[in-house]
Amino acid sequence: MKKPLLSADQQQRVNELVTTMTLAQKIGQMTQTERMAINPEQLKAYHIGSVLSGGGSCPGDNTVAEWVEMNDDYWAASMESDDDHLAIPLIYGIDAIHGNNNIKGATVFPHNIGLGASNDPDLIQRIAEVTAREILATGVEWTFAPTLAVARDSRWGRTYESYSEDPEIVTRYSARFVEGLQGNLGTDSVVACVKHWVGDGGTTNGIDQGETTLSREELERLHMAAYFPALDAGVLTVMVSFNSWQGDKCHGHKYLLTDVLKNELEFDGYVISDWDGIDYLSDYYYDAVAMGVNAGIDMFMVSENWQPFIQHLTQHVENGTVSVDRIDDAVSRILSVKLAYGLFEKPRPKDRHWSNHSSFGSVEHRNVAREAVQKSLVLLKNTEQLLPLDKQTKLFVAGKNAHNRGHQCGGFTIAWQGTSGNDFILGGTSIWEGIKTVAPNATLSATENGTDADPSQHDIAIVVVGETPYAEGMGDIRDGDDIVIQAGSQINGSLKVLEAYGSSLELAKLHPEDLETITTIVAKGIPVIAVLISGRPLLINPELDASSAFVAAWLPGSEGQGIADVLFGDIPFSGKLSFSWPDGRSKNADKPLNRGDKEYNPLFPYGYGLTY
Ligand code: BGC
Repeated sequence: MKKPLLSADQQQRVNELVTTMTLAQKIGQMTQTERMAINPEQLKAYHIGSVLSGGGSCPGDNTVAEWVEMNDDYWAASMESDDDHLAIPLIYGIDAIHGNNNIKGATVFPHNIGLGASNDPDLIQRIAEVTAREILATGVEWTFAPTLAVARDSRWGRTYESYSEDPEIVTRYSARFVEGLQGNLGTDSVVACVKHWVGDGGTTNGIDQGETTLSREELERLHMAAYFPALDAGVLTVMVSFNSWQGDKCHGHKYLLTDVLKNELEFDGYVISDWDGIDYLSDYYYDAVAMGVNAGIDMFMVSENWQPFIQHLTQHVENGTVSVDRIDDAVSRILSVKLAYGLFEKPRPKDRHWSNHSSFGSVEHRNVAREAVQKSLVLLKNTEQLLPLDKQTKLFVAGKNAHNRGHQCGGFTIAWQGTSGNDFILGGTSIWEGIKTVAPNATLSATENGTDADPSQHDIAIVVVGETPYAEGMGDIRDGDDIVIQAGSQINGSLKVLEAYGSSLELAKLHPEDLETITTIVAKGIPVIAVLISGRPLLINPELDASSAFVAAWLPGSEGQGIADVLFGDIPFSGKLSFSWPDGRSKNADKPLNRGDKEYNPLFPYGYGLTY
């Protein structure tokens, strides 16, 4: 038997509250809406239990002080007590998935794919602790992290949110990340949310929100395994996957949500839907609401549509199509989490210990991110021993990602789809800025593409290439409309298929300018060290062949200095691939295989990584 979430006294308090609450108050608790769609007056009037910020959604100028102010106003509304309203503190949620990445000036950590390459569970816990503090600085209490997806097909636009293609590292990390966030549920803690339950990383052909067709055993071995330690560590919330499993959407899946997660695995926190995730269950929203609640979702992330959601759910209870018991179970779970986390006892956001704290974006926090960058880099090639570099070398630095903090942070940074340029990521260093700090004889290409490289002045070039930011379905690699239809066939209700990032994993097709930059410089007789910024392994054969050394840097985040630390040998390379690197010459190049697959024939296998 698992240790109960609450003490006997706390349990009694939950029971008493549920007995006192009206149906409107209960359904309000089950509703989460986006901040843009609700003001404090409405929050109180409808007894809303939670508010979130979607990617990029922020108050005013996105300063920490404005965040605290906003949360304080919502909190005050939720805590008013009168004849019609019970004082129940709201819980505010955000996607702080690589640091508190939505907020200006935050420490931005490498995306999960890079952290997987570092294979360092202690580091993971420290990252989660820093992230918790930067979340608390804004008066927020809950993050939709960690993502426990095991991405099996790098064409999936969310591959970078995954630590590894193999459950091994994800399973080593999950409890440590949860412990780093939730700690002892005290002053330093935030509520964690493991996502997306379940099978998101197994989506066929890497189509976001698509179909996972695996047996129950394989689903458990690959996609549930990492949840077990997180549940043992007491993770308080779980988010449902947009995916279908064997043709049925997870959001309506009673077996997966209630029978497995809540009953078999004894999860006693609450289940939250993904963003408007029930909309795809039926052409009729009214039906979709009951399908979601009856499957076992407790809190509903309804971005804007919260009024119809509340009306429909009320109607269902009145008609008996949703039982009062199910509502009471959902509300008890939500209140239990709020109580276990100590939300009822916390002072208003303005008066909390970490609110507006000077450690937000501090050097101390950035040093943890810098260490993560150092450990995440994977050296794929160093044939001429060009690395480590001498700091006095006359270096030429080029490539579109060399001086672009937005690009190196990737998606889910400041904006949902990320940003471009250096204006939005405050603090930290671009890769060029990191190099410049330690190498006095380095110059940045004025043209980005290296046409200004000059062999009489430059001995070696560092060329930073790769992807530009994307998030979710907009990062998919989809080859033709048939696949779009395939994704759509799993979706009832309104069909929303986002435009894909490209149609092939080949870097030379996605970004032909990169190979051009490398070959332009090499043609002048200057050897190239290529640094690849990417959310996944790409087909890089020609770029690799043209370069003398090659580094996979993933999406390193705000601390570009960590790359210079390793290129100049102050810190050794230690990263190892947590994703197999596909070979552009192999027959299954465009459908990458994973460790353990039949006909596994990667260019670089899982676990690969050179050292000095
Ligand atoms: C994503 C979730 C995220 C949510 C809230 C959804 O589109 O799938 O991972 O937590 O938005 O921003």
